[in-house]
Amino acid sequence: MSIMEQSAGAVGSGSGPTGTGLTMRRGRPEDAAALCALAVRSKGWWGYSASFMRECAPELVVSPQAAADTVVAEVDGQLAGFHLLVPMPDGSSDCGELGMLFVDPPFIGSGIGKILFEDARRSAAGRGWLRLIIVADPHSRTFYERAGAVLAGERLSQTIPGHSLPVFDVTLRPRPSASSSPRPTYWR
Ligand SMILES: CC(C)(COP(=O)(O)OP(=O)(O)OC[C@H]1O[C@@H](n2cnc3c(N)ncnc32)[C@H](O)[C@@H]1OP(=O)(O)O)[C@@H](O)C(=O)NCCC(=O)NCCS
Repeated sequence: MSIMEQSAGAVGSGSGPTGTGLTMRRGRPEDAAALCALAVRSKGWWGYSASFMRECAPELVVSPQAAADTVVAEVDGQLAGFHLLVPMPDGSSDCGELGMLFVDPPFIGSGIGKILFEDARRSAAGRGWLRLIIVADPHSRTFYERAGAVLAGERLSQTIPGHSLPVFDVTLRPRPSASSSPRPTYWR
């Protein structure tokens, strides 16, 4: 089973190595403090001021409950990054949000962000969502554009007055439902 398939709903706990010392696993409640610290280091990597980081702090909190919903990437046993999918605040069933995607600075630029993003995309589709929304850090625009996300607009930050954030939209292909009618098999 691939990393992507494991995170698309089949991951219980733990997963196999990917061949490069990188492993992916479900987060655990006891990871919360480490994930929160990683998020702060990661966000700070863009060079934000201490006062800006203080204002962002509420957005970087990972509760034990949220930690259990994360997928974390580890390199040789060391936490390297994670993602967190969250439902839309309005309870929409066909759309969800990439609430967090953070790579620890020593691993930034090594491809882990892309692996985590693809995992999140597959997992979101596995939940039956048709679209994935990302309210992104402005510095990460190019990363999301390279990943195929489409800029859909801007949103004012809820925690930092006057701070505008790019909003990306990713179209997902949901897992076909068991009730869908069988397809004709012309080629086999
Ligand atoms: C944004 C982030 C998740 C990207 O993860 P990463 O591991 O550094 O990215 P990758 O190495 O997987 O890069 C994937 C692709 O995006 C490109 N890319 C990544 N970051 C980029 C940047 N800041 N500017 C331009 N291109 C970038 C890479 O060149 C690569 O392109 P390719 O596929 O054509 O080779 C990571 O930089 C990060 O955690 N940053 C700080 C926190 C943050 O802003 N998180 C996002 C919150 S919305």
